[in-house]
Amino acid sequence: MKIHVLGSAAGGGFPQWNCNCANCKGYRDGTLNAKARTQSSIAISDDGIDWILFNTSPDILTQLANFKAMQPARAIRDTGIAGIVLMDSQIDHTTGLLMLREGCPHELWCTDMVYQDLTTGFPVFNMLKHWNGGLNRHTINIEDGKNSFEVSKVPNVRMTAIPLLSSAPPYSPHRGNPHPGDNIGILVENLRNNKTLFYAPGLGKIEDHLKPIMENADCLLVDGTLWQEDEMIIAGVGDKLGVTMGHLPQFGENGMLNYLDTLNKPRKILIHINNTNPILDEDSHQRQILKEHNVEVAFDGLEFEL
Ligand code: MLT
Ligand code: MN
Ligand code: ZN
Repeated sequence: MKIHVLGSAAGGGFPQWNCNCANCKGYRDGTLNAKARTQSSIAISDDGIDWILFNTSPDILTQLANFKAMQPARAIRDTGIAGIVLMDSQIDHTTGLLMLREGCPHELWCTDMVYQDLTTGFPVFNMLKHWNGGLNRHTINIEDGKNSFEVSKVPNVRMTAIPLLSSAPPYSPHRGNPHPGDNIGILVENLRNNKTLFYAPGLGKIEDHLKPIMENADCLLVDGTLWQEDEMIIAGVGDKLGVTMGHLPQFGENGMLNYLDTLNKPRKILIHINNTNPILDEDSHQRQILKEHNVEVAFDGLEFEL
């Protein structure tokens, strides 16, 4: 099973177009040792030809242009996107659907909560119906025992949805009123060798039901949005705390790092990095701390096999 990181940044990307925080400015000035990053999305394949796309970022066209395997060119119009799986209805995970309209119909998996948002507040399902039928929706069930699914064109890859606490987008009626299925993580299994990846770009809390899944996974690709809870306030870019956005910070007593330290088996990789996060600076003290804890930072184009 091949895992390809198409984009590794949080909403806004890095550098963010209107941001002059130390990271964004430092990158533009050429004084920061950091890589630019597009908004988070990954693709997974068994054969390297047909891929499952996890989330559709506003940067999808750039991401596809940078990843030649996604254009197998078997026909005059073609794509390697065999199915699309949404983790939530956040703008940075769904607006790329509009960019993919020429390839409709797409097979798309999402929960009922995500489907509600995408047919009301951001009615992309309704809009895309006018492009060759639009999105062929498959329900992601979040009920235990019924929550596994496969994409028929991508054999040997089984996905299991895990409901978790993060946040619905600001435009959703569920923003301050969480419902199961607003956000999910996905356990992806390679049925050829039983290796597993747990993918959760939005993860607000290490709930008890997540612990056995994270402990036993071979690889974690999880929420790396913020180093600290009040990072955006300190950077002077806004008033949102990690908890409002549903992103567990790395640092602090109950932070992601302390939890990851308790896990021996998995390879640990952070994704969905916000442009204010000091770990983007490869020479930073915080990046050094991650190294000491054996935690990696995803970058656009990172590819590995499980
Ligand atoms: C988030 O993960 O909280 C979102 O990316 C925020 C946004 O889309 O602006
Ligand atoms: Mn996001
Ligand atoms: Zn910035």
